Amino acid sequence: GSKELNENLKSMAASFAVTDDKIREIIIGFHESMKTGLDHDDDNALPMIPTFVRGRPTGKEKGTYLALDLGGTNLRVCQVTLNGDTTYSLVQQKFTITQEAKESHLWDFIAECVGVFLEEHGLIPAPGERTIPCGYTFSFPIFQTSISSGNLSMWNKSFTVPNSVGRDVVNLTQSAFQRHHVPVEVVAVLNDTVGTLMTSGYSHPDTQMGIIFGTGTNAAYWERMENISKWKGEDRTGEMVVNLEWGAFDNATRVLPYTMHDNKLNRKSPNHGLQVFEKMISGLFLGEVARNAILSLVDQRLVFEGQSSEIMNKSYTFDTAYMSQIVADDSSDLHVVKTVLESTLDILPTTLTDRLVVKNVCGMIGTRGVRLSAAAMSAVLLARPELMESEISVGIDGSMYQFYPNFEQDLYKVSRVFLGEDFVDNRLKLHLAKDGSGVGAAIVAMTVDRDRSI
Ligand code: BG6
Ligand code: GLC
Repeated sequence: GSKELNENLKSMAASFAVTDDKIREIIIGFHESMKTGLDHDDDNALPMIPTFVRGRPTGKEKGTYLALDLGGTNLRVCQVTLNGDTTYSLVQQKFTITQEAKESHLWDFIAECVGVFLEEHGLIPAPGERTIPCGYTFSFPIFQTSISSGNLSMWNKSFTVPNSVGRDVVNLTQSAFQRHHVPVEVVAVLNDTVGTLMTSGYSHPDTQMGIIFGTGTNAAYWERMENISKWKGEDRTGEMVVNLEWGAFDNATRVLPYTMHDNKLNRKSPNHGLQVFEKMISGLFLGEVARNAILSLVDQRLVFEGQSSEIMNKSYTFDTAYMSQIVADDSSDLHVVKTVLESTLDILPTTLTDRLVVKNVCGMIGTRGVRLSAAAMSAVLLARPELMESEISVGIDGSMYQFYPNFEQDLYKVSRVFLGEDFVDNRLKLHLAKDGSGVGAAIVAMTVDRDRSI
């Protein structure tokens, strides 16, 4: 009955709630984990990967570069022109990464796409000419061994290409280029958060942090070398970009408010027990958490008269994009929710109560995601409090930031509680660094290889 439904929703709301006190605990946990990770590599701490990127962009970088941007959903091949006056332009071709590529032939897939791009844009060098230098954004965790090499730590975001973990991803890509006669040389490899940081820094020199809230989630920031205790290199002066890999925060769920719906997702995922924080925040997973939560109500016969559908019963069919549409539906009969449930997911027929419940559940999970996102961003900024005295920019990209209703506004709102109203209202600027990674790859490639351009 409706009493049972209300009670269930109440306890569900409590389990998905992230109170301000919880966020304070998470921030403390983040700081401990960041500190340990900067000191030494530790499976129980944040990876805090030194990226070998040491020079801030000046906005004066000038030239045309090739950039490859392997995201979680798309591969972008770009020809980036940096104009030397903080502006840039790019010509790009976007290839959706096929499931087959995600599971097996990724390296050949990349080489083929680059080959197509070079052909179509007339960029193949004449015989005897030099190969084309390229910046490579790779949006998975790699332990970098130099600016142009790094060993894959693990796959995530549903990629499972075999024989890759532990190997140098630049080597694997470069070998595929050779097999496919693609005349390109990777001169720099970087995480997508680093690309976002650099792009934002090109136009806004006060950028301190780059974040992705997309298919996955992660961030990179400028850290003083003296704080990166685990750095083995000689030069310990100045700053370096550190890739936090914050999706791996609290994999043991000591602090995070984990629910049975999260557990269910985690248990079935190919990287069980890993990227636990990411699974509570990012676009690939939120819909699946919502699906689990809604099905738990179906199974108790509290919605849809206890009937699911074949589509709804399959994992990952409840896209996070549907959540966005559902949460944004303010019509009195919730007709957008109705269309998603009935036409897309084949659930028939729904009552207004069903639709209200679904909207409510999606809202709980979305709000939790935004609050945890704000917690992570706040934690990183609070780790360098001296930065907060002046104006700072944060470059952000990804589908959650761009498309989830009110995401940016809520980030500001939640952060105010932890970073202070004065700082957030007067000095913090969040910027969309759209397609940032490609431009960032070009900037880093250029700093490595200043005298070569395509
Ligand atoms: C893109 C970046 O714009 O955003 C990629 O260029 C990044 O490198 C991506 O991985 C993240 O967004 P999403 O939503 O596709 O994961
Ligand atoms: C995953 C990857 C990380 C990347 C993020 C966003 O968390 O591990 O490297 O930055 O997704 O794409």
